[in-house]
Amino acid sequence: MSVKITFITENKDKDNKNSRVLSYSETVPLLFALRDVGAFIYAPCGGAGTCGKCRVRAWGDLAPLTAEEVLHLTQKEIDDGIRLACKAVATGDAFVYVPQDAIFGGNIIMHCESREAWSTDNVSGTAKLGLAVDFGTTTVAARLYKLPSGELLGETERKNPQASYGADIISRITYASSNAQRGDNAPLTRALYDVTSDIIGSFNVALDDIFDIVAVGNTAMLHFYTELDPSGIARAPFKPQSLFGGYFGHAYIPRCVSSYVGADAIAAAVASGITDHRCALLCDIGTNCEILLWRDGRLHCCAAAAGPALEGAGISRGMTATGGAIDAAYVSDGKLHVHVIGGEEKENARGICGSGLIAVTSALLQMGIIDESGYMEKNFELAPDVFITPADIRALQLAKAAVRAGIDTLCDGINMDEIECFYIAGSFGSGLDIDSCVRIGLFPKELARHAKIIGNAALSGASMMLTAPHLREIAAHLADDAGYRELSTDDSFSRRFIERISFPHGN
Ligand code: FES
Repeated sequence: MSVKITFITENKDKDNKNSRVLSYSETVPLLFALRDVGAFIYAPCGGAGTCGKCRVRAWGDLAPLTAEEVLHLTQKEIDDGIRLACKAVATGDAFVYVPQDAIFGGNIIMHCESREAWSTDNVSGTAKLGLAVDFGTTTVAARLYKLPSGELLGETERKNPQASYGADIISRITYASSNAQRGDNAPLTRALYDVTSDIIGSFNVALDDIFDIVAVGNTAMLHFYTELDPSGIARAPFKPQSLFGGYFGHAYIPRCVSSYVGADAIAAAVASGITDHRCALLCDIGTNCEILLWRDGRLHCCAAAAGPALEGAGISRGMTATGGAIDAAYVSDGKLHVHVIGGEEKENARGICGSGLIAVTSALLQMGIIDESGYMEKNFELAPDVFITPADIRALQLAKAAVRAGIDTLCDGINMDEIECFYIAGSFGSGLDIDSCVRIGLFPKELARHAKIIGNAALSGASMMLTAPHLREIAAHLADDAGYRELSTDDSFSRRFIERISFPHGN
């Protein structure tokens, strides 16, 4: 059997010069072939066929639509040749079109303007270059510094190409374990190397030009990066191969606390200034929400599995917080108004991101369209072809219940009024409306007035440890001395989780 797939990245003209061809000796799902060609697309469920996000336009010799595709695609999409890449199988001569902006890895989201000012030609004499990297589950962010002065030379952020293997860490570990492809050639490790090289290249420097690197991330991501086997992280007793705390290859990796409280959380603690208080709380919100309580000179921490809903995955029209996403909402004159990233008219909205989901849910609670149990009679349209469904509300309820129950469990026995500062870290947190978070019950209302959104504090902490190396010891001490509470086996967490699924009274 001969299967030939032509990949087109710019438009659907088959003669387009931006095309590439791969041949196979047997049938192959388009998602696998896209990975083979280095085109990592968003596939939050990792190819299980449950999220419906891996849409591509495909034509030619393809197996018939699967049940999952019929479930997730509208008739118009089917008529337009849209398929789910993980379920559509190429059987002969097939063509796939993927818009360039749907491919991870080659997409600079943001970078420093004055590239010439810091090219290596100008970094002469005793000055050296240093790189701080945060390997997030969704994005990989980096800053380039001149050392030892600590002058910031550039900053960039890319989507993590591993998202093509699933939105959450467990999907990716499962993929790595089931394919028994650990080590240098493992695709998940390679994806991190590729995105790192790409980032370094975008700064107009080479790896050899970098004198020092500080890399942070969750514990699993750091296992992928250092080619360690992450499988112990995904199964009881949740024991990682390493908690790091030293140089691994070129990079210094700060110490992690546990399988689910990583060096990123410790870096965020360093950057936030949490230790300046008598009592303070920090939440790094993502698919895995790391919660740190600083009290009486010691860190206490836990991790709540919020799932991908807060990042827009697993939501019918969910997307990341990029152009076209509804990211905020409010009620005025009894009507719902939405804000679209990029200042677009709501008619041009393409979907809804995590902060938008929280804001819209809060607004619909105010309007009485959703009740305290989370019941909503039918889909609610936010913009043409962008709606929120009862299942989306259910997914948000589960996510917010996990985070809130995690906070309640970690803060068990202390009065919330004791907490002097409530730091909200993570790129998801940047667009959050605190009042909406309180209205849906994500955060306790006592913390609202102390809330401080601090963005990507993990990257800031990595940067501080790069430019002021003595902080590495302080970070190591914080991690070594931290108390960790495992929530998956904690009965009080389970009870609180159930209690927190409903929305608070009095909306
Ligand atoms: S449906 Fe294809 S990756 Fe989720």
